[in-house]
Amino acid sequence: MADGGVEIATRTCETVTCEKPAKLQCPTCIKLGINGSFFCSQDCFKGNWSEHKKIHKKIKKQSGADGSAMKPYNPWPGYIFTGKLRPFPTTPKREVPERIARPDYADHPEGYPASEMTMRGNTQIKQLSKDEIEGLRTACRYGREVLDIAAKIIDVGVTADEIDRVVHEACMERDCYPSPLNYYNFPKSCCTSVNEVICHGIPDTRPLEDGDIVNVDVTVYHNGYHGDLNETFFVGKVDDRSKQLVRVTHECLMHAINEVKPGVRYREMGNIIQKHAQAHGYSVVKTYCGHGIHKLFHTAPSVPHYAKNKAIGVMKPGHTFTIEPMISEGTWKDLTWPDNWTAVTQDGKRSAQFEHTLLVTETGCEILTQRQENSGRPHFMDSLM
Ligand code: MF3
Ligand code: CO
Ligand code: CO
Repeated sequence: MADGGVEIATRTCETVTCEKPAKLQCPTCIKLGINGSFFCSQDCFKGNWSEHKKIHKKIKKQSGADGSAMKPYNPWPGYIFTGKLRPFPTTPKREVPERIARPDYADHPEGYPASEMTMRGNTQIKQLSKDEIEGLRTACRYGREVLDIAAKIIDVGVTADEIDRVVHEACMERDCYPSPLNYYNFPKSCCTSVNEVICHGIPDTRPLEDGDIVNVDVTVYHNGYHGDLNETFFVGKVDDRSKQLVRVTHECLMHAINEVKPGVRYREMGNIIQKHAQAHGYSVVKTYCGHGIHKLFHTAPSVPHYAKNKAIGVMKPGHTFTIEPMISEGTWKDLTWPDNWTAVTQDGKRSAQFEHTLLVTETGCEILTQRQENSGRPHFMDSLM
């Protein structure tokens, strides 16, 4: 028999036939984190004991707290991982209230973006009107606010799922649909990419560890426009090697942005980025590219980040696109986990990324997702030890 119950707020007794207010909660349940299990008296507690204790046994077995071998979560038995990172369970898909306008793919069973797909193979780049630019500017400003809010909670022990929840809720508060949600069936509201994950990491319940680097990629859909940006953040105390990787990756993005102006070929971006990456001994991921963005999430132009690419198109005022270089410590080669999303490095070494949405102006470019006065501390500027 267990010890006497602990006093707690008033509930109804767990005994089916008893409707008395219940002040006592089973101490074992409290210890195990089981909610419910309230009793009105020691007598009702005792009377229920033989049935009630089965709950304890079940929970202990599930958690391995009974001393039985705790089976690690492994959704893909036999899969050989390239690095140390492992997938953790995910929480259910989050809902978006009816009042928030949804992109076409939000309700498609396979998440197909019909509007984007009809444009596939079309290399023509849209020049946005003044009003269209204003629409995109607003989406990008909201995207920036959402990423900054997510950045504030990043710490040792925080899970990517919690980051995803914060991103989702910040989107709801701004009447934004989180663009990744159901895009080709992507299951979450943002991408979180840890250490050897290059991009498209699915937020899961793995607690972030001291020394991790984590990229958070936020895209919001507001009033018909997508605004897309990402940053790589430090978790706790990160070693100099990783700090250098993150800093150089940010420099790659900014060097490329500095050359954006009318008349420049999109293919030139890759030359600038790879030159800087290579000078620091890093490699450039080739599978994923920057992209045109406005009413469509991903459209022309395609903007490769590697040198000697054959990208089509010349920059003109009113063009809007992203640059989002993924820079790796070791090999540039990527591979996708069996979840069909998580892109990792083939050698398990780390990769970092930064992304901005840009507008080509008459004289250069405007960074639509630029940091604001209140954006908070930029991790990528942290000094080396
Ligand atoms: N935000 C990513 C990009 O920069 C795309 C994420 S699509 C998702 O293009 F489905 F993976 F979310
Ligand atoms: Co993008
Ligand atoms: Co993005």
